[in-house]
Amino acid sequence: MIRWPTSLLLFVLYLFSPSSVWAGDDGYAEKILNSQCKSCHRFEGEPKSKFELKGPDLMWGGVKFQKPWLVRRLLGQEDNLYPNGYRWDKIRLSLKHLIMTREEAVIVADYMEKKFKDPRVKKSFVDMSTFSEMEASLGANLFREYSCLGCHQIKDDEGKLIGGPISVTLFDAGNRYTLDWWSRFAENPQDFTPHSGEYLADISMRKARHIIGYVMTLGVKDFKFYEPWKSKEFKNADIERGAQVYKEYCVQCHGKTGGGDGPGAKGLDPKPAVHAELPLSDYPDDYLYNLIYYGGKSVGKSPNMPDWGMTLPSQNIADVIAYLRSTFKGE
Ligand code: HEC
Ligand code: HEC
Ligand code: HEC
Repeated sequence: MIRWPTSLLLFVLYLFSPSSVWAGDDGYAEKILNSQCKSCHRFEGEPKSKFELKGPDLMWGGVKFQKPWLVRRLLGQEDNLYPNGYRWDKIRLSLKHLIMTREEAVIVADYMEKKFKDPRVKKSFVDMSTFSEMEASLGANLFREYSCLGCHQIKDDEGKLIGGPISVTLFDAGNRYTLDWWSRFAENPQDFTPHSGEYLADISMRKARHIIGYVMTLGVKDFKFYEPWKSKEFKNADIERGAQVYKEYCVQCHGKTGGGDGPGAKGLDPKPAVHAELPLSDYPDDYLYNLIYYGGKSVGKSPNMPDWGMTLPSQNIADVIAYLRSTFKGE
């Protein structure tokens, strides 16, 4: 019998087994990045203008993407992100991206998640578990108001692409980005893509929440919106406390007994609603909440009916709604 030296046996085994077993997954991933990715992507260094790059920077690739999206992307299952091509100044078309096997894609995605963190990216100030449908629709308006649509494509209600094609498409952004990375990026895009034609909006924190949250809902099937009127503040609502809020904030226009005849009513057109004649007890929860929190304009009424969301704590809003419902029944 021929006895093979162990080393030779190991070498034969090596030839017939996937290299990942031998180099370790990390080593295997590094090999792939070095040989197949670094010709176009950077995985370290300071942010640079896209006009000096061949592909998007990936040194924050471990915190930017949702892992399932990243794996799909590496498998070639995702559409290109840049309709005009990443370097639209060179070639005006989007080339097919390199495609990996599932095994490689998973190993590379795991490795990226482990290695390419960015210490600037912290937990977002946006809490998507309290993000409401009204906030998303306000965000959708801001997306237009702040020119986002001028440079990023989304889909309209019929699924048609709309918007300018100069930067990434965002119609699937909610399945692609992590909330934390996107929030930090939004704070100042130039920290990531300087001198690349990017844009910094002059925006309040509340509006930033609406627009960031809105983008995180794009492409997400059946996003579960928060319904504030189902919160514990509404379960604990108190009519007497509500009467006090009414006196302090509403009577000035709507009048002491809801006659629409407060001292502030003079000169307003349309006049403040006559609560005493309205069956507010039967008005839907979401309507009353949005009207009071986001103001008349948010439900197609006069902007002279103020938005109280920044002024009154949630408990006060729940209380005043309880007061309206119990007092004004349209009789
Ligand atoms: C020939 C150049 C080239 C090579 C090689 C290449 N990429 Fe890319 N990559 C690009 C370009 C260009 C884009 C943007 C294209 C688009 O989606 O429109 C991109 C996009 C990406 C994205 C999305 C980035 C983002 O910020 O949106 C990831 C992730 C990615 N590549 C990973 C890889 C990995 C991993 C490898 C190696 C296995 C690799 N790429 C190899 C050119 C390349
Ligand atoms: C003048 C064009 C322009 C406008 C307006 C603009 N952006 Fe951008 N945006 C860019 C550029 C350029 C980048 C950098 C990525 C690239 O294209 O190389 C970018 C990057 C982004 C990214 C990250 C893309 C990625 O995957 O790295 C998001 C998300 C984004 N913008 C959202 C918005 C939102 C929301 C608005 C509106 C408040 C907006 N943008 C307005 C040009 C624009
Ligand atoms: C600066 C004046 C002003 C103040 C203060 C004010 N409102 Fe109003 N409110 C209006 C005006 C004006 C309308 C009528 C809007 C229209 O018809 O387009 C209105 C309408 C309403 C309506 C009826 C909406 C409908 O669908 O008919 C409700 C309910 C209401 N306000 C609640 C409140 C509550 C609660 C407060 C206090 C937290 C308050 N308002 C404070 C001006 C005011």
